[in-house]
Amino acid sequence: MNHVNRQADSVRTLRWNGKAIEMIDQRLLPHHIEYVACDSARSVADAIRNMVVRGAPAIGVAAAYGVALEAVRLRNADRETFATNMQAGFAALSASRPTAVNLFWALDKMKALLQANGNKSPAELASLLLRQAHVMLEEDIRINRDMGRHGAALLPDGARVLTHCNAGALATAGHGTALGVFRSAVEAGKHIAVFADETRPFLQGARLTAWEMVQEHIPVTLITDNMSGYLMSRGEIDAVVVGADRVAANGDVANKIGTYMVAVLAQRHHIPFYVACPLSTIDLSLSSGKDIPIEERPADEVKGFRDCQWAPEGVAIRNPAFDVTPVELVTALITEKGVVDNAALIRNGLGDFVRKHQP
Ligand code: MRU
Repeated sequence: MNHVNRQADSVRTLRWNGKAIEMIDQRLLPHHIEYVACDSARSVADAIRNMVVRGAPAIGVAAAYGVALEAVRLRNADRETFATNMQAGFAALSASRPTAVNLFWALDKMKALLQANGNKSPAELASLLLRQAHVMLEEDIRINRDMGRHGAALLPDGARVLTHCNAGALATAGHGTALGVFRSAVEAGKHIAVFADETRPFLQGARLTAWEMVQEHIPVTLITDNMSGYLMSRGEIDAVVVGADRVAANGDVANKIGTYMVAVLAQRHHIPFYVACPLSTIDLSLSSGKDIPIEERPADEVKGFRDCQWAPEGVAIRNPAFDVTPVELVTALITEKGVVDNAALIRNGLGDFVRKHQP
């Protein structure tokens, strides 16, 4: 993993430099724009684990590049060495973070491509896998734009919308899921005012969502996580839109810790709670959200931030990074293939919808 200092001309979450995948180092935002270049499965796995790159779709695309780069690194190896090392690369990537299913979705896609081309040489496989990673990056942007269009239609002109964490361009290959809905609404001529939850403990809302919106001159107001109930009770929020890390077959949604709390508050105040998620985030192998693996992150993230520690040594800490919002609280899921409303979710779950659109 090498650090590359660049001018902040056009900020892209992931970009191919001809030899390696460069990722904007999201730990340093919004104060520093610095890219990290990764050229192997292991270096991409480290970047995912260490939060250089984060957000479900971005993790998926990064993992695809991790596989491709491992193959490129091994392109002159004999078949046996290639196969053994590729297996180790897959293992490192799949152990990087557990909750976002896009990681496993991307790895499965790459594995299927390898298996379908078992007769090809390592060099041929490397170029096939690399091409596939490029396609996945481009497709992710297109999917987010489609999702954005469907979601934008749900927001009235003048809507004041709350979001939690960062489900923006930084969490994807571009445009974003929840923030993609806001961007598309603005592109369609609507006036949208965004409220960004700070999102303790990693501050994705304060550091990343606020930054993305400020960059694009979309009106944004930052609040701490404990303020949304107050604003809702005063009629200052018209809708909530969040992203997702994994959605179970029944429509239960795993997303950044604190999302569940926002969904409960939204229901209490009769505010629509929308989840923007591509089909790659839906995991039909899990019947409900109770089976979604929830990542526990290091205690230090709760004790303080960067060099500043505010909690006493010796205090017990819990740091679950995600929670599960039950389908009953979800007004609708916004996907690239259209919107699935709560009645349809409760009646049918997501099986038929996903199979129809992703045979
Ligand atoms: O821990 P993170 O920053 O990877 O968590 C990200 C989220 O929870 C996002 O809301 C989710 O991945 C949706 S991104 C389009």
